Order: sequence, then structure tokens, then C-alpha cells
Amino acid sequence: MFVVAHVSDTHVGNDQQDPTARLALVMDHLLALDPRPDLLVVTGDVADHGTAEEYAAARAWLDRWPGPLAVCPGNHDVRDAFVDGLGIEARSVVEVSGHRFLMLDSLVDAVDGVRVDEGRLGDAQLAWLDQALGADDAPAFVCLHHPPVTIGIDLMDPIRLVDGDDLAAVIDHHPHVVAVLVGHAHTMGTTTYAGRPLLIGGGVVSTVPLDAEPFPIVWYDAPPSLALHLVDDEGRVTTHWRALDVR
Ligand SMILES: [Fe+2]
Ligand SMILES: [Fe+2]
Repeated sequence: MFVVAHVSDTHVGNDQQDPTARLALVMDHLLALDPRPDLLVVTGDVADHGTAEEYAAARAWLDRWPGPLAVCPGNHDVRDAFVDGLGIEARSVVEVSGHRFLMLDSLVDAVDGVRVDEGRLGDAQLAWLDQALGADDAPAFVCLHHPPVTIGIDLMDPIRLVDGDDLAAVIDHHPHVVAVLVGHAHTMGTTTYAGRPLLIGGGVVSTVPLDAEPFPIVWYDAPPSLALHLVDDEGRVTTHWRALDVR
């Protein structure tokens, strides 16, 4: 059994809610697992404003994790500060025990200093992904911040990945892609995409409820959540989500 710990949307430096205690709780939980997960994946919105101070705090949190680590940026991140502050490239391939994690960069640069919330991979990155997937038939996970399809939340659907159909066309060619891991939506959710499971990692700083639910649009009182993806020897993935009590 191969186990992926999946944490998303830590939003270090968030103005509405300091996530420090929530992050400590999440890491305490991961470190208490015995055996420990094989890998920690963080699917973006690591920092809230993308400052050097936020990335220094995020790096200190990540440094508590003793195992392999895979991180990609989200719309709240700033690419250069992310790379400099975390020491992690915005796009990367992480290989652990015969499993490959293709970490994509769906961050669209700010325009005139204004953050762009929708995501885009672009033709060059999609071509890179196609080549990277074709180079190895080990079980692969495609990881990015933005969900590439609608998920039924009015706040999130307009700011999804704009070239989701193009990403699906690439994944269609590679049957060894086990699942697609995303963040951005701040909810413990799952759907199918390109015939594969699309797994949303939850949210540390807040949860975004369904429109029908009687909660704030961005629900800061909701507990921090994370996902544990269990991959069996046949490559079948089972996800268990956890919400942790911060009180
Ligand atoms: Fe977020
Ligand atoms: Fe986001």
C-alpha cells in the first residue's frame, strides 16, 4: 500500500484567519500516523499574498515533514517568491517508490498587480506533461491547483482551469494516470475527469460550502481538512478525508 497525504490551501498570512494553529494540527496529525504516509502533496495557495515572510513561515511548516514532498503553486501564490522561499520549482516531477507525481503550474500571473484567480496550463506545459507521462509507465498522479471541471459551487466554477479540456485530452493518452489531485475549491470533494478520479484535497484555512448549505460563502469556522489517498498494488486509489477539531 502506498499512501499520499494531501493538504491544500494553507493560505499562510491570510487576513481573515491566521492558519498557524491549523497548520500545526494538520502536521501533528500526519506525523502521528504509523506508518507515516509515503509522500506529502500540497496543491497550492501555500501563501495568501505571496510575500517572502509568508513563504518563510510555510517553509518552516514544511520542514517539519521528514519525508518526500511535492508542492505546486495556486492563484494566491507568486511564482518567483514561491520558488525562492520554498526552494521548490513551480513545475516538478517527484518520484517515490515507483509512483510519479507530475506537479503542474496553473498559476496565471497577476495583471497590473491584480491577482488572476482562474488557472491555465498553456500549450507548452501540456506538451511537457504529455512527454513526461510518455517517458515512464509507472503509476502517475497529475497534480495542480485548479479543478479542471465544474464542481457545482458558484464561487469556484468560474475560476476553474480554463484549459481543462486540453488537459483531459493529454490524460486520455496515458492510462497509467491513477488520479488527478487538485485544491483551490476548499472542499472535501471528488468527481471523475478524463475517466479518472479527480480528488480535491480539502482546505486548511477555510472551507467553501455548497451554495445550498446555510454557511458563509467562505466558511472560516469549518475545521481544517486533509485527504489520505491509499493506492493498492493494482493501482486502485481509495481516499479518506479528515476534518480536524481546532478547538
Ligand atoms: Fe485557496
Ligand atoms: Fe486557489
